[in-house]
Amino acid sequence: MHELVLKNVDKIYPGGVQAVYDFNIEIEHGEFIVLVGPSGCGKSTVLRMLAGLEEISAGDMILNGERVNHVAPADRDISMVFQNYALYGHMSVYQNMGFSRTIQHEALDTLHEKVMEAASVVQLEPELNRYPRNLSGGQRQRVALGRSIVSSAKVILMDEPLSNLDAKLRVESRRALAKLHQQLDNTFVYVTHDQTEAMTMATRIVVMNGGRIQQIGTPFEVYHWPENMFVGGFIGSPAMNFVYGQIRDGRFVNEGLDLEIPDELKETIKSYSGKEIILGIRPEHFTTAPNNGHAPVKAVENSTEYLGNHALVYLTLGTNDCIANIKLEGMGVEADTSELYIDMNRAHFFDSESEKRIRSEEKVS
Ligand SMILES: Nc1ncnc2c1ncn2[C@@H]1O[C@H](COP(=O)(O)OP(=O)(O)O)[C@@H](O)[C@H]1O
Ligand SMILES: [Mg+2]
Repeated sequence: MHELVLKNVDKIYPGGVQAVYDFNIEIEHGEFIVLVGPSGCGKSTVLRMLAGLEEISAGDMILNGERVNHVAPADRDISMVFQNYALYGHMSVYQNMGFSRTIQHEALDTLHEKVMEAASVVQLEPELNRYPRNLSGGQRQRVALGRSIVSSAKVILMDEPLSNLDAKLRVESRRALAKLHQQLDNTFVYVTHDQTEAMTMATRIVVMNGGRIQQIGTPFEVYHWPENMFVGGFIGSPAMNFVYGQIRDGRFVNEGLDLEIPDELKETIKSYSGKEIILGIRPEHFTTAPNNGHAPVKAVENSTEYLGNHALVYLTLGTNDCIANIKLEGMGVEADTSELYIDMNRAHFFDSESEKRIRSEEKVS
């Protein structure tokens, strides 16, 4: 049985703004689900509906087999870590971690045990008597997380918990959270606009845009097999390049562009012969040396950024601006971009109207 299910869930705010459309997901116990998408796409709204802080306008929420649409937040086996951590300024770290509506009737000695256990997990034992104002952003975040652990809720919800941290601490906290998830027996549902956080922590990613799910998949799946141009462009950094052109005689052509397409891919797009199509190619799939299935391109190089072990080359390809991410081998080597190739084995094609990735009919991948 799935632990948590959302079925055809809509959210329409009073006033008429529809923030979420037909949201469907089945979550297993122990998953680390990350909802990712641009600001305003409805991520927090979904999370707040899970917590019971927002009413579900249509559809069902099922927790451990029971419909919980109208169950109060405190009566759901769910705990939420807020973006601003919602810590009480007049309470110590110890008190903040032990304070939760779901555990107010707990015997004091069990509660003490739980707080101490959580403090050890989030590494706050030395800080237990301090107050939130004397803590760093990272420590406050760990207090909020510790409180969720103490609450014993099976499902922990987190809304952009790392957004107030500086870059270095964000990277550390990302790793700490992923590790924590492995240690704990909880399901995490985590919201972020940062695709790197999604890629590094999630067991499954839910990519959202405009209130709608674009794709649900593992980090591997959303990176390698994006459902549509939105996912292709949102996951991965720098973003996937999109080049407009046509298919002619089994080749991808446009002004100054004429690319051979590997046989398997050619078969996939055979119904597009003579039609407009969009090539999707990731910056990391440009190379400076030919290989099997690599197509040479005549690109106009506009500028290059050297970043130590790789260089970002800004190009014009056909009529589109692109970025190539070229690996640099050895010291003091400049990228020789006089000849550039695209690894067409890694290319995708998208339908220019639906913006969906064109996939072969037999092979659903
Ligand atoms: N309480 C509210 N009342 C009306 N509209 C809201 C409310 N909260 C959010 N919205 C709108 O719903 C949409 C989704 O918001 P939100 O879920 O906060 O997005 P995200 O977390 O992805 O940035 C936005 O258009 C936002 O303006
Ligand atoms: Mg939000």
